[in-house]
Amino acid sequence: MVTSKHLQKASPDSPFSAFDQRCMERALVLARRGAGNTSPNPLVGAIIARDGRVLGEGWHRRYGGKHAEAEALDAVCATGQSLAGADLYCTLEPCCFTGPLKRQPPCTQGIITSGIRRVVIANQDPHPAVNGKGIRVLREAGIIVQTGLLSAAGEKLNQDFFTFHRRNRPFVHLKIAQTLDGRIAAPGGDARWITDTAARRLVHRLRSHYDAVLVGRGTVLADDPELTVRLVKGRNPLRVVLDSRLSLPDTAKLLSLPDREKTLIICSGEHPRIQNLRDCGVGVLPLENGVPGAGLPLGAVLTALGERGVRSILVEGGGSIFSAFLRAGLWDRISVFIAPMILGDGINGVSGLAPASIGDALELEDVSTRRIGNQLLFEGSHVYRNC
Ligand SMILES: NC(=O)c1ccc[n+]([C@@H]2O[C@H](COP(=O)([O-])OP(=O)(O)OC[C@H]3O[C@@H](n4cnc5c(N)ncnc54)[C@H](OP(=O)(O)O)[C@@H]3O)[C@@H](O)[C@H]2O)c1
Repeated sequence: MVTSKHLQKASPDSPFSAFDQRCMERALVLARRGAGNTSPNPLVGAIIARDGRVLGEGWHRRYGGKHAEAEALDAVCATGQSLAGADLYCTLEPCCFTGPLKRQPPCTQGIITSGIRRVVIANQDPHPAVNGKGIRVLREAGIIVQTGLLSAAGEKLNQDFFTFHRRNRPFVHLKIAQTLDGRIAAPGGDARWITDTAARRLVHRLRSHYDAVLVGRGTVLADDPELTVRLVKGRNPLRVVLDSRLSLPDTAKLLSLPDREKTLIICSGEHPRIQNLRDCGVGVLPLENGVPGAGLPLGAVLTALGERGVRSILVEGGGSIFSAFLRAGLWDRISVFIAPMILGDGINGVSGLAPASIGDALELEDVSTRRIGNQLLFEGSHVYRNC
């Protein structure tokens, strides 16, 4: 979530005015409106202004739809106003390429022909076909380009998109619901419900903003979850289950949902049951380098999902899966709902990290806490060292 701490105030020697800052803040708000609908494209917002007055605005609404810059240019033209000498504020560097899979024309072209005088950008686009080229093209056309305004907020807004292009894997967000003493289920596996409806509603919203949710086989056996978006309006993400031996019961709800083509089971190698499941409409992805029962290699899991267009994953459990992602260092953000309950015994949210001392603990940054219903929601990000 973009918070006020990401919206740093401009320093006195900043090249940007207070009006510039307000326009970019508005562009960031607009960008967020596309949440859940633009992947694999990023969220982008744009504002056009002149002489301290906003002329028009736009945002990227959905994948395949018009880009934010084009929306904003069209919005101004639709009112009959001229674009000559106007400033364009966009949260991400405008794109500058065409390609067989690209549905929209390069934004740089529309900007250059429009008469825009200056372009202010929050973040450079890490997409290999852009990555500074959009900025260069605009400057070569004589347009003033300034970058870096509210870049921290822009990074946060598109953390999945940036992670994918920088780390070559989807953004991984672990979501844990636990008691005060760190248990995610009672000793027999009962976990319903540790959190109240307010927390679960927030989780459903999160799901709708992610490309995929992921759980382990143990969670399906214990909870028989649907992993759909029901408590808020939004689209269902892909539902991924790690099940190396392909041993989920046929009765699992995930295998009979109306949109079961959105269930994907990842297993180890070939298995006689694969065709049966596919015939029922369920996706199965056999990993060649997995060993049944040995825990699927998470790096390979993420690579395979990335190749299928998944840019962001919400990992929803259980304990073995949370621990495996943490041990492998393959995570970016963690959200822990802490409920006012104590079990004293049960399944740990995280185990087996084998620290020798406090110095070995995983540390978090960009930490925040807030109250959701009856829970405390603690969130933090991975501290990447030496990379
Ligand atoms: N409160 C919460 O936030 C929350 C959320 C979810 C679940 N839960 C609870 O957690 C419990 C389930 O946790 P769990 O630890 O038993 O099961 P789990 O983490 O859901 O699933 C573990 C299973 O996933 C498979 N797996 C495949 N690749 C793996 C890998 N790289 N690392 C680890 N496992 C891998 C393994 O089965 P194969 O070897 O057969 O492949 C493994 O046994 C249930 O009681 C559930 O109610 C709580």
